[in-house]
Amino acid sequence: MFTVTFMFTVTFTFMFTVTFTVTFMFTKKGCCMKIIVAGTGYVGLVHAAVCSEYGHEVYAYDNDHRKIEAFSSGEAEEIEQYVNEPGLANIIRETVGKYLFFSSDLNGIIEGVDAIFLSLPTPPNLNGSTNLVFYDAAAADIAQALAGREDERRVVLVNKSTVPIGTARHLQEIMNAHEVANFGVASNPEFLAEGTAVNDARKPDRVVVGCDHDADFNILRRVYSQFVNHVRIKYIETTPETAEAIKYVANTMLLTYISFWNGVGAKIGESFPNVRIDDLRLGVTADERISTWGSFVSNGAGGSCFGKDIASLIYQLRGANVNTKMLEASYEVNEYQKVYLVERAITEAQFKFNNKTIAVLGLAFKKRTNDMRDASSIKVIESLLGKGVAKIKAYDPLAIENAKQVFAPSQNILFEKIKYHPTARAAVEGSDALFISSDCEEFRGISRTIEEMVSPPYLVMDGRRMIPDFEDLAAKGYDYLAVGSVVMRPDPQSL
Ligand code: UDX
Repeated sequence: MFTVTFMFTVTFTFMFTVTFTVTFMFTKKGCCMKIIVAGTGYVGLVHAAVCSEYGHEVYAYDNDHRKIEAFSSGEAEEIEQYVNEPGLANIIRETVGKYLFFSSDLNGIIEGVDAIFLSLPTPPNLNGSTNLVFYDAAAADIAQALAGREDERRVVLVNKSTVPIGTARHLQEIMNAHEVANFGVASNPEFLAEGTAVNDARKPDRVVVGCDHDADFNILRRVYSQFVNHVRIKYIETTPETAEAIKYVANTMLLTYISFWNGVGAKIGESFPNVRIDDLRLGVTADERISTWGSFVSNGAGGSCFGKDIASLIYQLRGANVNTKMLEASYEVNEYQKVYLVERAITEAQFKFNNKTIAVLGLAFKKRTNDMRDASSIKVIESLLGKGVAKIKAYDPLAIENAKQVFAPSQNILFEKIKYHPTARAAVEGSDALFISSDCEEFRGISRTIEEMVSPPYLVMDGRRMIPDFEDLAAKGYDYLAVGSVVMRPDPQSL
């Protein structure tokens, strides 16, 4: 009996081990890829984290040691001081040390790599062109590491950040110059929006992959196996140049659509008193061909992508001798939109800014972010300071620390006039007028604060149409000036 049990146990253990090993080998070969993500900004970090969720062995590489240390800790507080995206810290906490690793040592992680994603900062030059200094430096480091590897398996280098059309080709030249063997280049642009980046990466509308060779398409199909043949997500395979162009066309089209509403819809509402912009929007977007997203009129669209990408595309097309009037108009409408409420306050509400105290609510470029890049508030505040205001009382739920850096008095002595407040209420207290510059949800209830803290005459400049009961506010004697409407000033007889 003992012998039978022993034989059974040995056979079972042997069969289990064989099955497990074969399954593991198969899984490893079929799914798990070794990926390096170079650059841990919000695009790179989100991409690395979400790839690690799918069981890939992911190395997020950055030459900033402080970031690497913070991300490796898996602690939300540490991670969020660099990238604050809902859900991101949770993923990192769960995958770090298992599937996700952080490193500043490229040579130490290069062996056996299948794909290297480049997600590096690409800031604009003054002429609108894309500055590739950081990109080129990282590409050269990667080339050097690849040239020195022992394992010569095929590796695909993938541009993740938005880079000019032709940059994959440029990357190929950098690799060739370093005599890197057995590599391919690809473009795989990212379409994440801030604040929803994790969700967007897990459930994208589309995955765009541009390669030259089947071998590289195959590697990326394995990286994105969860999206290939998906019922809803479009998996698009094309040339690297087309993939690069898709990102530019998508972003400039989104900005152009916003500019259309700001430059046409809002102007109709501001010119004809009986046109209600909110109803206009509903009526027009009821047509399913016309998007609701982008139809919310505003004091301009900001953020790290739109302005920079349209300027870069204009530069690229001018280089190809193309007439860029349409893109220029879209860009100009957006820039003008950021400051024109301040001008309207003077001409339509007869407001005199000189020596006044102005509350500014909403400093980040949109709600639920601390990102100040290209935020409309920057132009608004500069314009107010240019009109001679005595003081600006600023509030934002997330962006005050970043705003302090943007408005550093060392850059402009006038920024000393900006004081920061912990609540909207504190910012409004004692002010002569209010400017709402972002769409933070909490501003929807601001009319009560206004009524409690300040008395008419008082001007509300609403850059985001955040006050639903503006008619009540105006009926109580406050001047109300919003994007998309004629000014509402109380009739002195009715007060
Ligand atoms: C954008 C794109 O949406 C994303 O696909 C791309 O990858 C990066 O750029 P993001 O910069 O995060 O994402 O911001 P988004 O939510 O698109 O908003 C951009 C700006 O447009 C914000 O200032 C926003 O407030 C403004 N906006 C948006 C409007 O003024 N009106 C609208 O109806 C929508």
